[in-house]
Amino acid sequence: MPILDAVALPDYLVADQLCGKIAVVIDVLRATTTIVEALGNGARCVVPVASVDGARVIAHDRPGSILCGERGGLKPDGFELGNSPLEYSADLVGGVDCVLTTTNGTRALHMATAADEVLVGAIINVDALCDWIQRDGRDVILVCSGTDGRVSLEDCLGAGLFVDRLGYVATDNAGMMFHAMNGAVEQFGGLRYAVESSFHAKRLISMGFGDDVAFACEAGKSSVIPVFDSGVGEIVVD
Ligand code: MLT
Repeated sequence: MPILDAVALPDYLVADQLCGKIAVVIDVLRATTTIVEALGNGARCVVPVASVDGARVIAHDRPGSILCGERGGLKPDGFELGNSPLEYSADLVGGVDCVLTTTNGTRALHMATAADEVLVGAIINVDALCDWIQRDGRDVILVCSGTDGRVSLEDCLGAGLFVDRLGYVATDNAGMMFHAMNGAVEQFGGLRYAVESSFHAKRLISMGFGDDVAFACEAGKSSVIPVFDSGVGEIVVD
């Protein structure tokens, strides 16, 4: 049976920890949820970029692309879309290259590229991604993005859901996320309420993004499998 590992922050990865594995990068609030939704609504690709300036340069060099993302949760000046998954409607992103930069999620994607395969994971595509991973059969590592260098409860809850669904042999890190998820779901009376108890969710709710938080908790609603080809720099649907 494959082994399932996890890290609570990409900064916690140690040498060779990604080698030979499928990495699932998770930023429940909101980058990976947004990427899944953009591709589900027909974006041709998402180009994840670590910096705002880098995103401006890449979008400038890609005719027809749009600039997307956030800093401090808000759309930077001159960007077409922010980081709310609900903004990414088919009429706005259909057939378009979305050049996306976010504070933590796009950075985590670039920190996972030593893996054999980099998948974009969210609560909304947990079932489809787990089916894909089980058919593939390779070992897996869940890479939580965190928030500003700190561990995020919501990413650990999302990772715990992947551990639950995959049913693989779990390392202690992956096991802790599974137990944290189960405990929090029981304590708060459901996954959405557990996610809403997190620091980042409270911040987003206070900024008026409560619908994004609720949307990000709709487990398994999407069948999109986003794969990051770091050589080309694009996330596309498998
Ligand atoms: C991030 O990558 O830091 C986030 O997705 C922040 C957010 O917009 O909620």
